[in-house]
Amino acid sequence: MKKRLECIAAKIPNGIGMVDVGTDHGYLPVALAQRGYGGNLFASDIGEGPLQTAREHAESAGVTEKLRFLCCDGLELCPPDAVDCIVIAGMGGDTISGILDRAEWCMDRRYTLILQPMTRAEVLRYWLIYNEFEIVDEDLVEDGGILYSVLTARFGGVTRLTEAELYTGSFAQLAKHPLYPRLWAIQRKRFQKVYDALKRSGAGDEDGRLALSELICRQLEERKPNDQGI
Ligand SMILES: C[S@@+](CC[C@H](N)C(=O)[O-])C[C@H]1O[C@@H](n2cnc3c(N)ncnc32)[C@H](O)[C@@H]1O
Repeated sequence: MKKRLECIAAKIPNGIGMVDVGTDHGYLPVALAQRGYGGNLFASDIGEGPLQTAREHAESAGVTEKLRFLCCDGLELCPPDAVDCIVIAGMGGDTISGILDRAEWCMDRRYTLILQPMTRAEVLRYWLIYNEFEIVDEDLVEDGGILYSVLTARFGGVTRLTEAELYTGSFAQLAKHPLYPRLWAIQRKRFQKVYDALKRSGAGDEDGRLALSELICRQLEERKPNDQGI
């Protein structure tokens, strides 16, 4: 299994059950079944095609009996009492937020959410904070030259993030991570580019984007990694 999915697998507690929303090929639940995960395993996808691929993968791995396949939008058909862990990986942060928004039952502290946005992570972090989820952990994994954020969240609790942290994740949680300097460099370059382009355009700042990119650059500068990576 890819490093990105291995990172997610390592965070799944052995409990009542887990659902992998947008499972596609089903790599994650199939690997968990092979490794002796004791709870219920749900592989869910909105597309019948991907779900069929997951079924075939489970079949060839000899674990079909251990998995249940759900063809639905997000968490629509997932039985709330049969899981305590929800994984949503490999989609945009806006799509992940939409899936959670349509499943009010996940707003309960008994569920561990493991979320891995491919894009627009700031939308997801904002959604979580706005809906009173606590982001209990931020992790980073590099796979195929790409850096991915993996968030663990639980309902109830307060998480405060600065504007820059909506994009990076909490500095306090990430500062000692060996990949933090790489994350910092990517985001610093990104917002400097935005700032330079807006400044060059000479247009006013009615929508506040210039001021926001300047603020984020400043907040990032304040958390610049030193030689020890912190
Ligand atoms: C890029 S794949 C990610 C596969 C896997 N989760 C991973 O991280 O490698 C995205 C999958 O999410 C599914 N998907 C997209 N929107 C969905 C939704 N609203 N509900 C369930 N599945 C969805 C797609 O059909 C596709 O199979």
